[in-house]
Amino acid sequence: MWCFFVLFCFLVSMKCGSSAQLIFNITKFAEYTICNKTVVIPCLVNNVGAQSLKEMFVKWKFRDKYIFFYDGDKNESSPNSNFSSAFIVPEALLSGIASLKMDKSDAVPGNYTCEVTELTREGETIVELKYRVVSWFSPNENILIVIFPMLAVLLFWGQFGIVTLKYNASVTKEKTILLFVAGLVLTTFVIVGAILFVPGEYSTKRASGLGLIVVPTVILILLQYSVFMIAPAIGMSSFSITILILQVLGFVLSVVGLSLCVSECTPMHGPLLISGLGIIALAELLGLVYMKFVASNQRAIQPPRNN
Ligand SMILES: *[C@@H]1O[C@H](CO)[C@@H](O)[C@H](O)[C@H]1NC(C)=O
Ligand SMILES: *[C@@H]1O[C@H](CO)[C@@H](O)[C@H](O)[C@H]1NC(C)=O
Ligand SMILES: *[C@@H]1O[C@H](CO)[C@@H](O)[C@H](O)[C@H]1NC(C)=O
Ligand SMILES: *[C@@H]1O[C@H](CO)[C@@H](O)[C@H](O)[C@H]1NC(C)=O
Ligand SMILES: *[C@@H]1O[C@H](CO)[C@@H](O)[C@H](O)[C@H]1NC(C)=O
Repeated sequence: MWCFFVLFCFLVSMKCGSSAQLIFNITKFAEYTICNKTVVIPCLVNNVGAQSLKEMFVKWKFRDKYIFFYDGDKNESSPNSNFSSAFIVPEALLSGIASLKMDKSDAVPGNYTCEVTELTREGETIVELKYRVVSWFSPNENILIVIFPMLAVLLFWGQFGIVTLKYNASVTKEKTILLFVAGLVLTTFVIVGAILFVPGEYSTKRASGLGLIVVPTVILILLQYSVFMIAPAIGMSSFSITILILQVLGFVLSVVGLSLCVSECTPMHGPLLISGLGIIALAELLGLVYMKFVASNQRAIQPPRNN
């Protein structure tokens, strides 16, 4: 009889033992990027029964070291000094949420263990925190952002070539030098900007690189205007005015795009910026074609006029 009673008790305690488990909604890993300000490592208990925080205790472990304790009886959190920003939301514990939140600066990739105790029941789950490198702009956007301004600068040098070769008689040396210096400054800005803007994660270095690529294109408007005014046969024709308006429009779009993108870790307005830069390059191309056209017309007309 005694024997059966002992066996019965043993079986009951076994049963209690196996039901004294907290069940977790398992998350194998959580990912964060440079764009996350805070990092949340999920830990979700599916069968919390506690009615009061006083019955709960949470421990978080990282690489076999405890990094965070929450004592519900005292309602007290104690993070390890290496994870000083770590916290959980006590109020959410009763609905099963023991997720650990911390600043990105404290987060270290690796395996985190969440241990939850509720009176006699307990359980743990492991979540791997991973860091993912994300590029600021997409690869295609990166290429276009650099290519269009470079192209625009090259086309300006083409215009400069026409001015010095075809109109050298009517252009003073001072004006040529001024054009050359302004063009050189612009070229330097764009090249330095492109070097700083090398593809990669968002950083102030890359953001300032983008600024150096975009803002100095205002010089192109002045250069285009000067080149048109210097070339004797062009001046302010309706065509050159159209090109200049296009150029200003491109600049305005680029600067608006820049201001929307420059502080965004995941920029949404890359296409606006790129279309602005594309329009600038187009205006330079039209300017060059127009000048070439006028210059070759001039040469055809000039000999009879000289006779
Ligand atoms: C990082 O941010 C993304 C987007 O906001 C979010 O979906 C993800 O859960 C965050 N990662 C972590 C570990 O908090
Ligand atoms: C766990 O998952 C179940 C089913 O997906 C859901 O109903 C429950 O709310 C989840 N638990 C927590 C604590 O999020
Ligand atoms: C636990 O402490 C937090 C602040 O540390 C407080 O906001 C919250 O109200 C407390 N909860 C209980 C149940 O005492
Ligand atoms: C903090 O991190 C350093 C380096 O990883 C480690 O040596 C040290 O033991 C950690 N401190 C605590 C309190 O865990
Ligand atoms: C985390 O644990 C998983 C499964 O045990 C393992 O595959 C992975 O390599 C671990 N990650 C790290 C960074 O230790």
